[in-house]
Amino acid sequence: MAAAEVGDDVYGEDPTVAALEAEVAELFGHEAALFTPTGSMANQIALQLLVEPATELLCDADAHVVAHEMGAAAAYGGISTRTWPAAGGAIDPAQVAAMIRPDGYYAVPTRAIAIEQTHNRAGGAVIPLATMRALREVADAAGIGLHCDGARIWHAHLADGVPLAEYGRLCDTLSVCLSKGLGAPVGSLVISTRERIARAREIRKRLGGGMRQVGILAAAGRYALTHHLPRLVEDHARAARLAEALAPYGVVDPSTVRTNIVPLDLSGARLDAAGLAAAARAEGVLISVLGPRFARLVTHGDVDDAGIDRAIKVLTAQLAG
Ligand SMILES: Cc1ncc(COP(=O)(O)O)c(C=O)c1O
Repeated sequence: MAAAEVGDDVYGEDPTVAALEAEVAELFGHEAALFTPTGSMANQIALQLLVEPATELLCDADAHVVAHEMGAAAAYGGISTRTWPAAGGAIDPAQVAAMIRPDGYYAVPTRAIAIEQTHNRAGGAVIPLATMRALREVADAAGIGLHCDGARIWHAHLADGVPLAEYGRLCDTLSVCLSKGLGAPVGSLVISTRERIARAREIRKRLGGGMRQVGILAAAGRYALTHHLPRLVEDHARAARLAEALAPYGVVDPSTVRTNIVPLDLSGARLDAAGLAAAARAEGVLISVLGPRFARLVTHGDVDDAGIDRAIKVLTAQLAG
């Protein structure tokens, strides 16, 4: 980062940002990409590219774009959202197809479908390639777009062995994050065609996301892609070990844990999510509270095998009570 060559990226003059954008576009087999400060901004730019004001987006009820982006699609894009029930990351393409509304008087026409790969609230579930292909066909048949919130698409790529370019081929727009499992301090990208990314640059500026000498952050992202991407499989193995150790307490089915997230269903547990999180924090183990009886454990580059051993010791003691 300290050695990064920088320029004013608002004028498109930062060579390190340009290199990162070109590398990521190529990884996904697309023409262009745009660096953004956050995954939320990358998602919202992509949605605005595909869904004009007063038309609608379809996604599942637990999708980050509707559940955790503070109404941004409505507030900044004038976008209506309609959801199908979240089913642990499982998607029925026929059900999605049946929801699509055509143009017409009295209508809110559907312009795009959004999916999340991997699915955060579904515990890092991987959407099968066959499902994505079927959704592509659904979108093509209706003449609408397909967006992938790929904040953790790197994990799906490694878990299922699907080339990133295959995911790219199936989607009109993708967002990807460098700042989650990849471990860069900041940064995401929107990926699409050259024409769409030119518009994305304008939308980013409108949202206040045009940044100046930002190559220092892009340099971290480039480093993460080279050095941290391959090691995500270690996080997956550690999450699987954590899930196996907690399974006897009835809080997780280890067969569902395929990436770096261990979702805990605490409905039958002694402690609720806030109680478990507080008790774990007191012992130096940090977990997320996603609902009254729903918690999330995430493995990442700062948690080694000894850290997993400690998490298992602390959490099993609390769950056993
Ligand atoms: C699936 C998913 N998409 C998008 C985001 C947004 O990323 P950011 O926090 O960088 O806005 C997150 C953040 O947790 C996420 O889990």
